[in-house]
Amino acid sequence: MTYDDAITALSKDAVKLVKNHQTIGLGSGRSATAFVKSLSSLVKKKKYNIKCVPTSLQIKLEAEKGNLHLIDTVLDKIDIVFDGADQIDKGKNLIKGGGGALLRENILINAAKKVVIMADDSKFVTNFDRSVPVEVHPLARNTVTKNISKISGKPKIRILDRGYPFITENGNIILDCNFGVIKKPKLLREKIKNISGVLEVGIFTRKPDIIYKARSDGKFDVIK
Ligand code: A5P
Repeated sequence: MTYDDAITALSKDAVKLVKNHQTIGLGSGRSATAFVKSLSSLVKKKKYNIKCVPTSLQIKLEAEKGNLHLIDTVLDKIDIVFDGADQIDKGKNLIKGGGGALLRENILINAAKKVVIMADDSKFVTNFDRSVPVEVHPLARNTVTKNISKISGKPKIRILDRGYPFITENGNIILDCNFGVIKKPKLLREKIKNISGVLEVGIFTRKPDIIYKARSDGKFDVIK
């Protein structure tokens, strides 16, 4: 049994939270992909009439494979969002943006009535200790880099395997910023967000309503 088995199992459980006629936000990444597969089976089986808002082209392609009904605008309400996370701290704050979709993910999470996060147990920490993805307008690359350094961060532009910079779906770059152990995530988020040229910060402080924790033995826990 592996984490993948656990993610598949928990996505089958999480999909039971979906009701007919809802608008669903789809996060990005491995866990969101497993969820989309379960959602597609549910919609097919029960003939549900639901609308889905994708947070990236990656998940949009998965949703298209599953014949889900996609819309591209956040309506006034999203009933429920299902997403993964890169780290979850003891206060249920999240680090997101490992896949670069943080801007749309944060829009959806903040527009949602209910937020469900699915992640494996290696991502649960007392305090954040991994780099924070920051989406930055290319024009502001140098000024943001300087200002992040002033608040004791070590920014590094995200580069793809073959040496090209990673460009988000919004045409921006990502600076992965190392702040060591982060004890005050909300304050740090505000400080970074205040820098001109920063479009989004991968520290999300909206607490999820439900967290699914995948275990390496193939089972999972539900934290409410
Ligand atoms: C995408 O930008 C990220 O926020 C993902 O949600 C995050 O990286 C989790 O992805 P996995 O489910 O693939 O670990």
